[in-house]
Amino acid sequence: MKQYSIAVLEGDGIGPEITAEALRVLEVIGKQAGVAFELRRAPFGAAAWFETGSAFPEETKAICDASDAILKGPIGLGTEASKKIPPEEQPERGGLLPMRKRYNTYANFRPVYLPPELAHFSPLKPERVAGGVDIIIIRELVGGLYFGAKEQGVTDQGLRYVNETLSYNEDEIRSILVVAFEEAVKRKKVLHSIHKSNVLMSSVLWNEVVDEVAADYPGVEVKHVIVDAAATAMILDPRQFDVMVMENMFGDILSDLAGGILGSLGLMPSACMGTKKSYYEPSHGSAPDIAGKGIANPYSMIGSVALMLEKSFDMADEARRVWDAMRSVFGAGVTTADLRDPEGKCTVLTTREFGDRVVEALCR
Ligand code: IPM
Ligand code: MN
Repeated sequence: MKQYSIAVLEGDGIGPEITAEALRVLEVIGKQAGVAFELRRAPFGAAAWFETGSAFPEETKAICDASDAILKGPIGLGTEASKKIPPEEQPERGGLLPMRKRYNTYANFRPVYLPPELAHFSPLKPERVAGGVDIIIIRELVGGLYFGAKEQGVTDQGLRYVNETLSYNEDEIRSILVVAFEEAVKRKKVLHSIHKSNVLMSSVLWNEVVDEVAADYPGVEVKHVIVDAAATAMILDPRQFDVMVMENMFGDILSDLAGGILGSLGLMPSACMGTKKSYYEPSHGSAPDIAGKGIANPYSMIGSVALMLEKSFDMADEARRVWDAMRSVFGAGVTTADLRDPEGKCTVLTTREFGDRVVEALCR
């Protein structure tokens, strides 16, 4: 029997409740496919900080190091509650960014997937999303402003100041571009490269490297779009995009915008691919306002399991079955509390009920 070990980091807020449903789905898939998934739970995020004084404790690092893949729930506290933790140790800076660095998860895949069955959830006019939206945002995840040199202090005039650096070298740019070109080859052979070369020199270098890498992929058409214009174009006509590639900060912002196109960040799973190890997480936060109420949408977490099956365990067929199961659940006139229901006709499911329906669909 095939066996894989998975570090499970439930995270904060709604993390535990959506992780529970994702693990039920994983269990069913394991049974059906004859694969044993060994789950190793470990603390991570704000909860871990309160417990151990670190958002990414040594014990958790060891468990992640020794596992085949990492499944991670959302982390973080609300703005006020965050103040209880020193800024550098808050779960984002003290846990998540160190995790990305540790495993060099430079390639972040964020599917923006709105099949026709889910199209009514989009706040865009039906004609703009008719037939569905299917974009892969590929975000560079371990460089740029997030990881550049930082300095803060007080100027000679007595003003507090901060310096944050947007830094990339050509190898870092090339690595993420190669991932994006490879993805474009597998899909529609069109790659939208997002940049701001009219202002940022990092984007001038980015575009130079795009031209170099493109020479190795003559079958892929490259389309250059400036990041601000890309935001507008994504809203006006999201179906023109297939694979989009961009640096870290642009990807953070445009992927949340993409969540808006779908109708909720609750529909945004992600895969953070490293050279040796990858981890899987929803693209959204821990929603402390609804934590523990059992109403969070587990789609992003279950979708992250689907991405893990496909990308870490070579189980693309099983991944497809998970996506199809979630599609069929939403196609049957149901919704979750985060999603719009324009005609008020959908049954609103709890977190658990959504998990039940997905499991039922998989067992049908
Ligand atoms: C994301 C999140 C993170 C980011 C936060 C939690 C640090 O917003 O994964 O998009 O900014 O990368
Ligand atoms: Mn984000």
